[in-house]
Amino acid sequence: MEIFSRIVGTGRAMPGQAVTNAQLVKQLAASGIETSDEWIRERTGISQRFIASEGINTSDLAAEAAANALQAAGMSAQDIDLIILATSTPDMIFPSTACLVQKKIGASGCPAFDVQAVCSGFAYAMATADLFIKAGKAKTALVIGAEVFSRILDWTDRTTCVLFGDGAGAVLLAADSKPGILGHRLHARGEFENILRTPGTVSHGKATGHPFLTMDGQAVFKLAVQVLDSVAREVLADVGHQVSDIDWLIPHQANVRILSATAKRLGIDESKVIVTVGQHANTSAASVPLALDLAVRDGRIQAGQRLMLQGVGGGFTWGAVYLQY
Ligand code: ACO
Repeated sequence: MEIFSRIVGTGRAMPGQAVTNAQLVKQLAASGIETSDEWIRERTGISQRFIASEGINTSDLAAEAAANALQAAGMSAQDIDLIILATSTPDMIFPSTACLVQKKIGASGCPAFDVQAVCSGFAYAMATADLFIKAGKAKTALVIGAEVFSRILDWTDRTTCVLFGDGAGAVLLAADSKPGILGHRLHARGEFENILRTPGTVSHGKATGHPFLTMDGQAVFKLAVQVLDSVAREVLADVGHQVSDIDWLIPHQANVRILSATAKRLGIDESKVIVTVGQHANTSAASVPLALDLAVRDGRIQAGQRLMLQGVGGGFTWGAVYLQY
C-alpha cells in the first residue's frame, strides 16, 4: 500500500504589531532614506510587514506556529517524530533552530534539523519530510519555515529594506493511505549565488564580510518567473496532471508582480493564486506556510483540493510541492 504524507494541521505566528508602509516611510525618513507608500505598493504589492522586537527570535516564532499547527491537528508534541525547520536567520550558529523549537514545544527525542535554502527552504523541508514518511522513517513530521529577516536587512538600503518582514508558518504531515503529497521537485544553480545573498559570517568573534542582504532585483525577478513556471510543469508531468488540475497556486510571496507573471506564464487564472505578500511582505522560508495557513483558516482551501506550493530564492534555489489537501 502506498504511503502519502498528508497535511493534518497548519499554523502561523507573526510578531507584535504590523508596521504599515506609512509608518516605515516615516521611520526611514528620520534617517534620511526616501521612499513612499505608492512606490512600495506599485512595485511590490506590499502594504505592511511585521518586525520582531529585540529578544524575539526565529525559534520563538517557529514554536508559536508549531503550537498552532498542533492545536489545529488535535495532536500533542509527543506525537511528532521528525522536525525540519527552514530558515536563513537561525537563533545562533548552533544548535539548530529545530532543536531549540523541539525543546520549546516539548517534543523530546525525535530527529530535528534545519535546512538552508533561503526562500525555497519550505519546499526543500516539505520534500525532505515527505521522503522520510514515504520511507517509513517517520509517521508525523513537523515542518516549519521561520525567519527574522529584519535582522539581516541594511536599513539604509531602500532597494531591499522595504521588501521583507518576519514571521513563521508550520504544517504537520502525517503518514496516510490517502493522498497527500503527490510529487515534488527541487533545484539549485550555485552559479547564480551572487544575485541574492548575505555574504557575511562570524569569525574570530566578529561579523566578517557584509552581513546584510544584497540583491540584483531585476535578475531575481526574471529568473524567479522563469523557474516558477518550469518547476510547476515538471511536477505536474511527473504525476500525469495538467495545469488545470491545480485548485490553488501558492508561490513564494515575494512580490505580486512575480506572482501575476507566474500565473500568466502557467495560464492559471489569478483568482486561483493565493496572494498574502501584501499583509506580511517577503518572509523568505516562512512565506509559503504563512500563505497556506491564512488561506486554510479563511476557508479558501478545502479538503480534497490540489495545491501547488512553490519556493524560489537565494542559492539560487527553487522547488515545488504538489499535494492534495
Ligand atoms: N522607494 C523609492 N524608490 C526606490 C526604492 C524605494 N524603496 N527602491 C528603489 N527605488 C528607485 C530606484 O532607485 C530606481 O530609481 P531610478 O530610476 O531613478 O534609478 C527606481 O526606483 C526603479 O528601480 P528598479 O530597481 O529598476 O525597480 P524595479 O521596478 O526593478 O523594482 C524590485 C525593484 C521591487 C526589487 C523588483 O526588481 C523586484 O521585485 N525584484 C524581485 C526581487 C524580489 O522580490 N526579491 C525578494 C527576494 S527574492 C525572492 O524572494 C525570490
